[in-house]
Amino acid sequence: MITGASRGLGAALARHLAAPGVTLHLVARGAAGLEAVGEDCAARGALVRSAALDVRDAVALAAQLLAWDDATPLDLVIANAGVTGGTPTGRGPAGGGLEDWASADRVLGVNLMGAVNTIVPLLPRLVARRAGRLVLVASVAAFRGLPDCPAYCASKAGLWAYGESLRARLAPEGVGVTVAAPGFFESGMSAQFRGPHPGKISAEAMAERLVRAIRAGRGRAVIPAGVGFGLRLLDLLPARLADLAVRRFRFTVGE
Ligand SMILES: NC(=O)c1ccc[n+]([C@@H]2O[C@H](COP(=O)([O-])OP(=O)(O)OC[C@H]3O[C@@H](n4cnc5c(N)ncnc54)[C@H](OP(=O)(O)O)[C@@H]3O)[C@@H](O)[C@H]2O)c1
Repeated sequence: MITGASRGLGAALARHLAAPGVTLHLVARGAAGLEAVGEDCAARGALVRSAALDVRDAVALAAQLLAWDDATPLDLVIANAGVTGGTPTGRGPAGGGLEDWASADRVLGVNLMGAVNTIVPLLPRLVARRAGRLVLVASVAAFRGLPDCPAYCASKAGLWAYGESLRARLAPEGVGVTVAAPGFFESGMSAQFRGPHPGKISAEAMAERLVRAIRAGRGRAVIPAGVGFGLRLLDLLPARLADLAVRRFRFTVGE
C-alpha cells in the first residue's frame, strides 16, 4: 500500500514493485494519475486497487485501509504522500518570503498527520499478525531546519521521530519499520524548489534504492547518505554558525 502514488516517488515505487503475484493498493487525491499508474502496474502483472482519497481525511482513509486489509492482508505500508510549501514570494519588504499559516497547516497536515492517519489504523492488525513493514518517507530536511521551508522541515523532523519511535516499539512485536530520508530527486515537488538541488537523482533511481533498503530490512534509509550526514553534522555546530551555513543555501518554493 502506497500513499502519494499518483506521481513522483510513489508512482515510481508502485511501478518498481509491480509484478505478477503482487497486489498493489494505491492512494492519492488525483484519480487520473492513480488510473495511469495503475494501468502501468497492471501491465507489469500486478493486481491493482486504488482509491482517490486525501490522507488528511482520517476516517475515510482508515475505512479504506481496513477494507483492503480484510481482502488482502497488507504486508508493506509506505506513507509517502507529501506536499511542500514555504516562501513562495521570496525575500522582500513587509514580510515578503514568510511562510503563512495556511501553508504551514497544509504541509504539517499532509506530511505528518497524513502519515499518522495511514499507519495508526493498521498497527493493531500488523502487531496481531506479527508481520509487515511500515515505511515512512521523511526527508534529509528532517535533520536541520532550513530557513525557507520551516513547516516542511518540522513535518519531516516529526515524521522521522515518529518512525524512530515506532521502530523501537514494534521490533519486538515482529513488525519492521524503515524511516527514509531522501535527498533531492526529480519530481513535481523538487521542481517547486527554486535553488540548488545538490546530488539530485531520478525518481526511479530513488525508488530502486529505497526498495533495496526495504528488502534488506534496514531501519533507516538516508539516500544519498552524504547529504544527510552533512546536514546532521551542521546540527552539531553552535546555532549561530549552523544558521550562517544554511543561509547560504537560499531557495524559494514555487506553487
Ligand atoms: N522530491 C524531492 O526532492 C523530495 C526529497 C525528499 C523527500 N521527498 C518526499 O518524498 C515524498 C514524495 O515526494 P515527490 O517528490 O514524489 O512529490 P510529488 O511528485 O509532488 O508527489 C506527491 C504525491 O503525494 C500525493 N499527495 C499530496 N497531497 C496529498 C493528500 N493530501 N492526500 C493524498 N495524497 C496526497 C500526490 O497526489 P495528489 O496530488 O493526486 O493527491 C502525489 O501522488 C514526499 O513525502 C516528499 O516530501 C521529496
